Amino acid sequence: QAGMTALDYGYGNTASCRSAITYIDGDAGILRYRGYPIEQLAEKSTFLETSYLLIYGELPTQSELDSFTNKIRRHTLLHEDLKRFFDGFPRDAHPMPVLSSAVSALSTFYQDSLDPFDQEAVELSTVRLLAKVPTIAAYAYKKSVGQPFLYPDNSLGLVENFLRMTFGFPAEPYEVDPVFVKALDTLLILHADHEQNCSTSTVRMVGSSQANLFASISAGVNALFGPLHGGANQAVLEMLQRIEREFEGDVDKFVERVKNKEDKSARLMGFGHRVYKNYDPRAKIIKQQADEILKGLGVNDPLLDIAMRLEERALADDYFIERKLYPNVDFYTGVIYRAMGFPTRMFTVLFALGRLPGWIAHRREMINDPTTRIGRPRQLYVGATKRDYVEMSAR
Ligand code: SDX
Repeated sequence: QAGMTALDYGYGNTASCRSAITYIDGDAGILRYRGYPIEQLAEKSTFLETSYLLIYGELPTQSELDSFTNKIRRHTLLHEDLKRFFDGFPRDAHPMPVLSSAVSALSTFYQDSLDPFDQEAVELSTVRLLAKVPTIAAYAYKKSVGQPFLYPDNSLGLVENFLRMTFGFPAEPYEVDPVFVKALDTLLILHADHEQNCSTSTVRMVGSSQANLFASISAGVNALFGPLHGGANQAVLEMLQRIEREFEGDVDKFVERVKNKEDKSARLMGFGHRVYKNYDPRAKIIKQQADEILKGLGVNDPLLDIAMRLEERALADDYFIERKLYPNVDFYTGVIYRAMGFPTRMFTVLFALGRLPGWIAHRREMINDPTTRIGRPRQLYVGATKRDYVEMSAR
């Protein structure tokens, strides 16, 4: 009927698949990977161990983790021809399209691991992605600042290696700050999976046509780029900078413009969630981390103060309370990334780095499910009824 939207017909919320990977209770603010609460994993696990858990379903024994770590270490290098791939991009290219293009290009260099039904090929492409995406991400950053690429140093852990390739220089040794390693490791754990979000559903949809894993993940990177999804962490920082610059830090004035939908985005970026109608459990952990890290670094970032005042103002406002809008995973992450020295445009790349094991886990789960069929969402046709062709002279 006129006026009804697709959501009214339930098209926005139909259950799309069965999965054993991640459980979310949006009202209670619960998030568990393979049954383990996110709070425990963030405190006790590492990103590599959590990646293993998401992909293989169980926490690894020490020998399983060592073997997984060593396999990944052996694949951190990019093919020399793939390194030249970066020369073709303009200096000011956003790193997210560079990432999605390079990930898709991996399928041209590693044609021996494309068959989604060959377990050995799936293992090899899984390890290649986990190992090479951090290298690609670091090179996308180096390209954007016109600095030379550093080869991976496999004596380092995954996160240390990434930080060194990102911020290190060939001319001098680079000491990775253990505070940054721990902070980034925790943030990557918190971003590692989140059930059937937009980008994960995209990975599953593309994978359902039996496209290879690299193509599926590349599609997920592109879906994540949108400002309503992973691109929100960049949009939050830009919003906080606007409040500082254009509103002189006056969060009340900014919130009123958002409520009146006068503001261009008419949204508090980093607020709201389709599933969480309570505080995003990840945001709680990240907010605490932001405070600790900035204090630990002796960084007094006015944007963190604006973020905290903005949260306080919104959580006391009926407009946000009625719509159950709370800070989500993206609200505080940007302040931490900025304190680490990442430019705003790298924030969503860091989200992709974290979400990679979740995407891989879902693609493997789907392709191993014998009931999987090619994705084919139904539609509600609301267009013209049957009519005959009109000759040009009669139009
Ligand atoms: C992520 O799905 C996942 O799990 C995603 C994610 C993951 O880990 O993969 O958690 C990561 O994407 C987090 C979300 C990051 N995006 C943002 O922070 C962008 C700002 N947030 C919104 O755009 C919005 O809240 C969404 C996209 C997150 C959710 O949108 P919904 O569920 O479709 O909500 P809606 O657009 O239907 O809005 C309902 C109402 C509307 O008001 P009315 O039209 O009824 O008057 O709430 C309002 C919206 O205008 N609203 C907001 C708002 N979000 C929704 N108003 C102000 N600020 C906001 N942030």
